[in-house]
Order: sequence, then C-alpha cells, then structure tokens
Amino acid sequence: MRTFRLFYVLLGLGIPAKGVTVYYIQGQEPLTATGTASAGAANYTGAAAYNPTVLNPPPVPSPFNSQFNIQLQNGGTPGVSIPQEGSFLGFSIEMSVANQVLGKNASVIQVPFLNLMANIQQRAGRVNVRVGGNTQETAVLVDSTPDGRILEKDISGSSNPTQTPPLVFTPELLYMMRNISSFVNVRWFLGIPFNDTTNFRLGIAEVGQQILGDYLIGLQIGNEPDLYVRHGHRPSTYGPNDYVGEVYNLLNAMSGPENAINRNLLIGPNIATGDWKPEDVWNTGFIDDFSANLAYVAVENYPADNCFAQFGLGTYQDPQVVFPSYLNHNAGKNIINKYLNSTAYVQTKNKRMLMFETNTASCGGFAGISDSFGAALWGLDYTLELAHSNFSGALMHVGGQNVFYNPFTSPPTNQSTFHQWTIGPIYYSALIMAETLGASNGTQVLDLNANDGNIYTPTYAIYENGNPVRVAIVNFVTDPSGASDLLVSIAVGGSNVGQANATPAQVKVKYLLADSVSQKGNFTWAGQTFGGIFQSDGRLQGTENITTITCDQTNNVCQIPVPAPAFALVFLTDDAFTENSGAPSTTFPTTAQTKTRNTVTIDPAVLATSNGHSGMGKDKLGSTSAGSISAASGLRHSLGGGVTLMALVSGALVIGRLILR
Ligand SMILES: *[C@@H]1O[C@H](CO)[C@@H](O)[C@H](O)[C@H]1NC(C)=O
Ligand SMILES: *[C@@H]1O[C@H](CO)[C@@H](O)[C@H](O)[C@H]1NC(C)=O
Ligand SMILES: *[C@@H]1O[C@H](CO)[C@@H](O)[C@H](O)[C@H]1NC(C)=O
Ligand SMILES: *[C@@H]1O[C@H](CO)[C@@H](O)[C@H](O)[C@H]1NC(C)=O
Ligand SMILES: *[C@@H]1O[C@H](CO)[C@@H](O)[C@H](O)[C@H]1NC(C)=O
Ligand SMILES: *[C@@H]1O[C@H](CO)[C@@H](O)[C@H](O)[C@H]1NC(C)=O
Ligand SMILES: *[C@@H]1O[C@H](CO)[C@@H](O)[C@H](O)[C@H]1NC(C)=O
Ligand SMILES: *[C@@H]1O[C@H](CO)[C@@H](O)[C@H](O)[C@H]1NC(C)=O
Ligand SMILES: *[C@@H]1O[C@H](CO)[C@@H](O)[C@H](O)[C@H]1NC(C)=O
Ligand SMILES: *[C@@H]1O[C@H](CO)[C@@H](O)[C@H](O)[C@H]1NC(C)=O
Repeated sequence: MRTFRLFYVLLGLGIPAKGVTVYYIQGQEPLTATGTASAGAANYTGAAAYNPTVLNPPPVPSPFNSQFNIQLQNGGTPGVSIPQEGSFLGFSIEMSVANQVLGKNASVIQVPFLNLMANIQQRAGRVNVRVGGNTQETAVLVDSTPDGRILEKDISGSSNPTQTPPLVFTPELLYMMRNISSFVNVRWFLGIPFNDTTNFRLGIAEVGQQILGDYLIGLQIGNEPDLYVRHGHRPSTYGPNDYVGEVYNLLNAMSGPENAINRNLLIGPNIATGDWKPEDVWNTGFIDDFSANLAYVAVENYPADNCFAQFGLGTYQDPQVVFPSYLNHNAGKNIINKYLNSTAYVQTKNKRMLMFETNTASCGGFAGISDSFGAALWGLDYTLELAHSNFSGALMHVGGQNVFYNPFTSPPTNQSTFHQWTIGPIYYSALIMAETLGASNGTQVLDLNANDGNIYTPTYAIYENGNPVRVAIVNFVTDPSGASDLLVSIAVGGSNVGQANATPAQVKVKYLLADSVSQKGNFTWAGQTFGGIFQSDGRLQGTENITTITCDQTNNVCQIPVPAPAFALVFLTDDAFTENSGAPSTTFPTTAQTKTRNTVTIDPAVLATSNGHSGMGKDKLGSTSAGSISAASGLRHSLGGGVTLMALVSGALVIGRLILR
C-alpha cells in the first residue's frame, strides 16, 4: 500500500528509527481548517483513525444573536443537578483492543496512556475506565495463550454487525490494569460474559476482584441485552423478564464465598435503548429485586450509526449532511430526553445512572465528524447536559485503528517505533469536563437555557455549596469574520435577584479553540495542544495561556468574549481556579522502550505540569513544551516491580516522562 511505502524506504535506508520524525504519511498531509475535503480524502484507503476527510462547516445561522446576559445568584438556585464527581466523563475501551491501548502485558505499559489518564486525575482525582464492549460477551479467561499474548482474537468467529471477534485473555490483562492503577488512580469496570447464562463464566469477576481489589468498581451484567434477539443471540421471544431471570441465575451462580464482594458490584441493564425502553426494564421490578447488588444502573446509546459505510448494513448516511446535526444543543438533548424519566426514577430508588457506552455514532463514527473540533464541542455540551440531567457518569468508547471516534489512538503496532499517539477531540472533552467539574465531588450543574434557548450557544453554571463557581459556554458556530463571536455578560447577585452585588473584580477564562468545527487536530486548550495525528505522548504541549477579564463591579457585569467556534470555561472565583484536585504531581525516572535499540533512560529532571489548576498559580512547576526540559524539584520515585513503560523515542526528544499523583 502506498501509504506505507515511505516507511519501507526510510527503514530500508537504515536510518535508525529513533532519528526518524515522520508525522505525516503520504495522503495525510496537514489539512486546512476550513477547506473542503482534501484531494487525498476521496481515495484514502488507510485506517479510519487517520482518515483525512475534512467536511465543510455549516453556514452561520441567521438570525444569530451573539450578545446575551446571564444572571446568577448565590444560594437557592432551583433545578441544579445532583452532586457530580470530576471523574464524570471516563472511557470505555473495547476489550479486544486493550492490549493496544493499555500496554502489551503487566510489565510493558503504554506511557502515553498513563499520561492521558494522569492529566485527568490531576483535575478530577481519578479516572473511570471500562474494559469491555461487545467482545466481553464471548470472552474466555485462560491461563495462557500459545504465543504468550494476553489477548487472542478469533477473527473468523465474528458473529454480529460490529464484527467483534471472540477472544481469550489471560490474568495478565488484569495484572496490567492493576499495575496501571498503581501509577495513576484509574478505577475499572469489567463485564461478566452473558452469551451463555446457564453456564456463566465467572472467571473475570473472581480473578478481577482478587487482582484489582478496590480498583474494580463495577461488573456489567450483559451488554446491550435488548439487541440480543436482533443479533441472533437469543430466541425471538426474549424480553426484559427473561433478562431479569438470567440475572437471578447469575446471582445463584455467584453464591460462593469467592463472590461475596463482587455480587454487589453489578451494573445493569446496559440496554442500547434500541429494542427496549428503560421503563420496560424498570417495570419488571429490576431495581427493587437487585437493589443490594446494583452498584449502578446503566444504559448505552449512540445518537446515530455508520454501519452502512463500515459493514453495508442499514442506510447510507452522508457525513456532510449529518454534520450540522451534531453542532447544536439539541444533539445531546435528543439522546438524553428518553432517559429523563429514568434519572428521576432511579433517584427515588437511591441509585445512580451511568451512560455506560457512547460516542458520536456506533459502528465507528463518521469520517470528518467524529474526529473534528465539532466533536469536541459536541462531547462537552452532551456531557454537561448528561450531568445537568442527573446522570452520574458517562464513558466514551475507544475502538481500534478502524474507527473514527477514538479519544486516543496508539500507532499501529509495527509503526510504534516512529509514530506517537493520535489524540482525538473526545479526549479534549474529557480533559475539560474534568476541569469544569473539579475534584470536590460536590459540583452541581445547571443548563442555564441562556440566550433564549438558542441551540448554538448552550451555557452552563457549575455550583459548589450552592454558589456558582464556574460558567461553561459553547459557541457551535464557525464564522471567521468575527461577527458570530459571542459577548456574554455575567452578573452574580445584584438587585435582579434581591441579593448584594457579588460580581468578582476579575475572572479567569480558559478557551478551547480551533479555526473551524471541521478542523482535525491541533486544537488548543488554554493555548496548549496534543498536536495532530501521530504527534502526542499524552502530555499537553506549549505554553499555557489564561485570559484574565476585568469585570465592571459598579454595573455588576463581567463580559466574556467567546469566538466562533469555541468553548470557554470562566472561573468566577480564585478558589474555583486554583482548586487542586488533591495530591501534587510527581514524576520519576524510568526506562522507556519499544525496541531494544531505542532504549534510553528518561531524564528525571522534568516535571510535567502546567496542566490543570495546580499548575496555574504561583507554583507553576515546569514546562511541557516538546524538548524543553526545565529543572524542577519534586518527588521522584524509582519504578519498582520490573515494569517497563512503553514509549516512543524520537530523535533527541526524550518522551516518557510520567506524571504521577
Ligand atoms: C498541527 O501543527 C503542527 C505544528 O504546527 C503542524 O506541523 C501540523 O501540520 C498541524 N497538523 C494539522 C492536522 O493541522
Ligand atoms: C482518485 O483516484 C483516481 C484513479 O487513480 C483519480 O483519477 C482521481 O483523481 C483520484 N481522486 C482524488 C480526489 O484524488
Ligand atoms: C511482556 O512483553 C515484553 C515485550 O513484548 C516481553 O519482552 C516480555 O517477555 C513480556 N512479559 C511477559 C511476562 O510475558
Ligand atoms: C459462549 O462463548 C463461548 C466462548 O466464546 C463459546 O465457547 C460458547 O459456545 C458460547 N455459548 C453460547 C451458548 O453461545
Ligand atoms: C417513568 O418511569 C416509571 C418507572 O418505570 C414508570 O412507572 C412511569 O410510567 C414513567 N413515566 C413516564 C411519563 O414515562
Ligand atoms: C435533577 O435532580 C434534581 C434533584 O432531584 C432536580 O431538582 C432536577 O430537576 C433534576 N434535573 C433534571 C433535568 O431532571
Ligand atoms: C504494518 O502492518 C500492516 C498490516 O499488517 C502492513 O500492511 C504494513 O505494510 C506494515 N507496515 C510496516 C511499516 O511494516
Ligand atoms: C470522590 O468520590 C470518590 C468515590 O467515588 C472517592 O474515592 C474520592 O475520595 C472522593 N473525593 C473527595 C475529594 O471526596
Ligand atoms: C492568549 O489567548 C487569547 C485569547 O484567545 C489571545 O487573544 C492571545 O493572543 C493569546 N496569547 C498568546 C500569547 O497566545
Ligand atoms: C506488575 O504486575 C506483575 C505481575 O504480572 C507484578 O509481578 C508486579 O509486581 C507488578 N508491578 C507493580 C509496580 O505493581
């Protein structure tokens, strides 16, 4: 294939891989932000994760009101959500790709993955990650595999529309997850296979509990059971009551002492909300029947599917035509509306509800949508609306090289010596969501229905102890002329709400920016970026840029400009800004390698911070710019347990510094 020929040439010339800096392969040249689909896109035959398709942004809506007011008050605001955790938005990693994303085995772990998780931990205190998906249903825990790998796929045995291969895995996968949690505070969800509910394979629950201990926070009981009939996994008469019967079978099967704890970690019904409604399950008495066993209730949903393009199933959807439907506030609301009754109902049952698997579209997402800046804005608005609507968390799905929607993608295995990771828009959503909610576990979210409910300018207030601390503003419009830049006037307290004027003297603002909703890669969050395809080691690069805006305290107003397009996070108080997620970040020396010839010792004198709140204030600790190594104090840990961290070494740039809490 033409796209790989360049690599053969470079390797063939004997240029050592560590000296090669190839960020773009033929056909994947840098893309213009607002241009039409680049010439190479139409004939592109490479992996979906690097598809160069760039769509056209939708036209500027007309009329469009770009100036509006927000009146906030301290205490007593009606309609705020239940208290939320900063780890609200986590990730769902398809089980069959866990060995590409997490590491090769328990002793060879991917440094970029650790850095990506550490960024979020720094802001939220922890990260919730599920390893599962369709592949969990037929997964088999085995002692070992013939070639020593921790996962083996049987591609020929694929049995449903997403072509998920049956797989076997070894306890090493669980050890790898446990080892990751010793570096970064990642908490894990797993799933009990439900393909055969007369002979449950409980290995993953039993060994998972033994190895992961407190880091195991939930076990799915079935994945999308409402689609079992459609996919030929159950007889056509199968319904919610049959599912409940299977859960009773499971509890019987889990009655041994080794299951005492994990019997209370169950998560159901995990319906895709395709062929059943949540109420169909609630009305069986599901939550009352299993109340003691349910750690959470959960649903899964994608707003659309691209199964035609990927597998020839369903109806063709043209990404250019579909794109605008992602770029307004109704996109998230249309997913969530069908669950509003459920989030109210589960509150009456003292349960919390998760959106367990979601992303822009099932069957891999859409080229040009799922990997665009628009998807980052969509992800933020959707997730903030989930929080406002009393969900308690959401997990964005991560697939392999063959999907468009990945929050992060490791390079193809045979390119890992010269390519780095590709960070997608949804990762920016997760990072910023962590920062928006913070680590207190007590933030409450309110959709302000601002600008008379204008769907292009959704705006949220975030409360702590009843008082507004941050404001999140989305501008979905792309308009390089500047005419659609917002000017949002925020007032806190004042005569409008019968309170003392409480507008701060100044506020700080961080922006998520790109030239267009169509742009791929190089988005900036407060001036820092994860770059374009194959360009990230999981740390933000560049100098942080925070905007300070002076407010008019006499007239009780702070005026916040928000470019078209952008997301803005306004910090109303110094505490809201400098609030630390908990433990300080530390780094430690380690050895990084992908191939023995690339083995280097990582310079310990690097502290990767200036991320999150802790790095912003007076104790700015160091630079994260590529290649810039600043002396930094701080704790340094040696790496025990014989763990090797896997990272790319490119030229003189030493990568693989790890942020540790
Ligand atoms: C991202 O920015 C880098 C550095 O400026 C540049 O080399 C690259 O072409 C850009 N990539 C995209 C996809 O715009
Ligand atoms: C796609 O390939 C065909 C045949 O090689 C060529 O004629 C056409 O110009 C290519 N299209 C684009 C957009 O590159
Ligand atoms: C882990 O993977 C590395 C790299 O492939 C290999 O050298 C090592 O032997 C593996 N460790 C185990 C315990 O299989
Ligand atoms: C369930 O999956 C296992 C492992 O893939 C397989 O051996 C078994 O035949 C399946 N059982 C049913 C009833 O489909
Ligand atoms: C809300 O859910 C409950 C529990 O399933 C159900 O009894 C009720 O009918 C639902 N209400 C609406 C309006 O759907
Ligand atoms: C979320 O729950 C709170 C507390 O029960 C309630 O006041 C609020 O109306 C709910 N929000 C939505 C959108 O259902
Ligand atoms: C990497 O593997 C793919 C799939 O097996 C193959 O097509 C490609 O040529 C390989 N590339 C390199 C640089 O070895
Ligand atoms: C937030 O909640 C999690 C459990 O969900 C807990 O582990 C953590 O300690 C809490 N953080 C704070 C600051 O209370
Ligand atoms: C910092 O961000 C602001 C707001 O986007 C921008 O106007 C300014 O040019 C940026 N400064 C630097 C040094 O990038
Ligand atoms: C990583 O996992 C292995 C088991 O495969 C274990 O021997 C080792 O101690 C673990 N390392 C750490 C740092 O937990």
